[in-house]
Amino acid sequence: MLNAALRTVLLQMAKSSRTRHLIETAPVSRSVVRRFVPGTEAADAVAATAQLERDGLLVTIDHLGEDTTDQGQADAVRAAYVDLLGRLSDAGLTAGGRAEVSLKLSAIGQGLGADGPKRSTEHAHEICEAAAAAGTTVTLDMEDHSTTDATLETLRQLRTDFGSVGAVLQSYLHRTEGDCRDLAGEGSRVRLCKGAYDQPASVAFKDKADVDRSYVRCLKVLMAGQGYPMVATHDPRLIDIAGALAVQNGRAQGTYEYQMLFGIRPDEQRRLAAVGEKVRVYLPYGQEWYGYLMRRMAERPANTAFFLRALATKG
Ligand code: FDA
Repeated sequence: MLNAALRTVLLQMAKSSRTRHLIETAPVSRSVVRRFVPGTEAADAVAATAQLERDGLLVTIDHLGEDTTDQGQADAVRAAYVDLLGRLSDAGLTAGGRAEVSLKLSAIGQGLGADGPKRSTEHAHEICEAAAAAGTTVTLDMEDHSTTDATLETLRQLRTDFGSVGAVLQSYLHRTEGDCRDLAGEGSRVRLCKGAYDQPASVAFKDKADVDRSYVRCLKVLMAGQGYPMVATHDPRLIDIAGALAVQNGRAQGTYEYQMLFGIRPDEQRRLAAVGEKVRVYLPYGQEWYGYLMRRMAERPANTAFFLRALATKG
């Protein structure tokens, strides 16, 4: 009950510009944030990627930025992704998709008027071209439920030219088991997560156990399908179930992968990689770390306690 209330407060804080200013300018914030966001510049992302690859991990990089409010900002985000992909390629980190990028369509203008979905699809196309030139690919992050249809439509269009572009599905949405069925075909890459936004009961399971049960149903569909499931969770029970389902479906290691966020359960990331599993770390970077950080706090009181303790002791 307390956790649910804290989660709602934190998700509201994620949208508050006043709280944002307070936290962004707190002297200790930078060092604490670094646990979850390795830096604000492309060079920071490249350096962190190189380190993770040395540790035997794969990487997907998110240039932080959402709630893009004008076309200039959308263009800047597109340019940042193209620049990042060039740098990763020059550093020899992208071959075979070892480092790929994760993209929020809102950051490249999906929400900017009636033309938004079309223009963001065009921007995404350019980023996919840069990824293909670098020998890697793109995964489309999933955001608020009101954008799910538009994002899946963009995925459909991108996949006609770039077959390996992946999507994210969120098990908290009632619709997702059906979406998994639609996307379980050959060549398809689906990242299954629980979902990080505050969604109404009309479209989403509100009870944690229901979200978990939905996750397992979705995983069963994806593991039995012809596509490439990407199991994005830190939940030990779901990680075990994914392993069991892979065996049940005769899947060899490498025909699916685990994914976790940078800084969360790093030991588990390395343990899975050491037993031969593919493990990809979601690595966010950029100036716009505030909303991302607040969602991580909302997921887990321990993360919030860590942050508050650091503020109290060093601030
Ligand atoms: P949950 O938060 O319920 O935690 C389950 C269990 O995991 C805990 O009980 C604990 O045992 C363990 N655990 C969790 N955090 C831990 C910690 N810090 N330390 C130790 N143990 C911990 N969401 C979205 O809406 N759209 C998207 O596109 C994405 N993309 C995405 C990519 C990747 C790679 C990941 C991992 C996640 C996302 N998400 C996302 C976020 C996702 O929806 C979800 O909010 C978080 O992953 C948290 O959910 P968990 O599945 O980890 O379970």
